[in-house]
Amino acid sequence: MELKDTTMLITGAGRGLGEALARQAAAAGARVVLLSRSERVREIARALRDEGRIAHAIVADVADKDAVFQAAGAAVALVGPIDVLVHNAATLGPSTLRPMLDTDCEDLEHALGVHVLGPFRWSKALLPSMLLRDRGALVHITSDAATTAYPTWGAYGTSKAAMEQLARSFAVELEGTNVRSFSVDPGEMDTDLHARAMPDADRATLASPAAVATRVLAMIAREALAPNGARLIASEVLS
Ligand SMILES: NC(=O)c1ccc[n+]([C@@H]2O[C@H](COP(=O)([O-])OP(=O)(O)OC[C@H]3O[C@@H](n4cnc5c(N)ncnc54)[C@H](OP(=O)(O)O)[C@@H]3O)[C@@H](O)[C@H]2O)c1
Repeated sequence: MELKDTTMLITGAGRGLGEALARQAAAAGARVVLLSRSERVREIARALRDEGRIAHAIVADVADKDAVFQAAGAAVALVGPIDVLVHNAATLGPSTLRPMLDTDCEDLEHALGVHVLGPFRWSKALLPSMLLRDRGALVHITSDAATTAYPTWGAYGTSKAAMEQLARSFAVELEGTNVRSFSVDPGEMDTDLHARAMPDADRATLASPAAVATRVLAMIAREALAPNGARLIASEVLS
């Protein structure tokens, strides 16, 4: 799928990997909608338009079930039917990372809302038009915490594991179409999320979100790199 003229909605595009994806996709000629809860996406979209790119912003919470269909309609009105939906928004939870027994049920509920139920609703809103046009991709940004259990990462990891199964569940039903559903583990990146989780990490050992975004966009553009149903590790693609 050529990135040029592709329409793309990226959740969590106000910083980190999502912002890098939006900037690079727009630079490649995609028509991009950036979504996050804070106004920062508006500033980024405005700056991209000043550079001659096609970029718009929607301020919304992916976990807000009442916002999805209105926000999805707005995205389509801004750039046309969405070809690529990137489920990138993520949360470590309302509180700091905690052992399972100290994790409130509400913390897990919140993580499931952002990483599973929200993406499920957004995919339900936008996938039918991809299928009608027989073109598109659902991209799920996951984590190694989905496959390996780390102490205090239980709510995050459990919800990311469920997100991966969501990706696979769509994928088996998309067989035979030109719409793909796949997951990408971006690896450790130098972002706010990482700094909040591991403030003492050596930043020099972390990948830049821009480098990871380049790989994710290559997976979107080239089906051979990211077939339907795949779970990919960003550092292993194009390495
Ligand atoms: N950084 C790493 O080392 C690492 C490792 C493995 C996997 N990942 C995954 O990579 C992806 C990107 O992570 P990152 O490090 O770039 O994160 P980040 O720097 O914390 O950025 C997360 C983005 O998501 C938005 N967001 C959070 N909750 C949201 C919600 N409920 N609705 C809408 N937007 C929301 C944030 O903006 P607002 O707060 O303004 O809404 C922000 O724009 C995530 O899926 C993460 O799980 C990251």
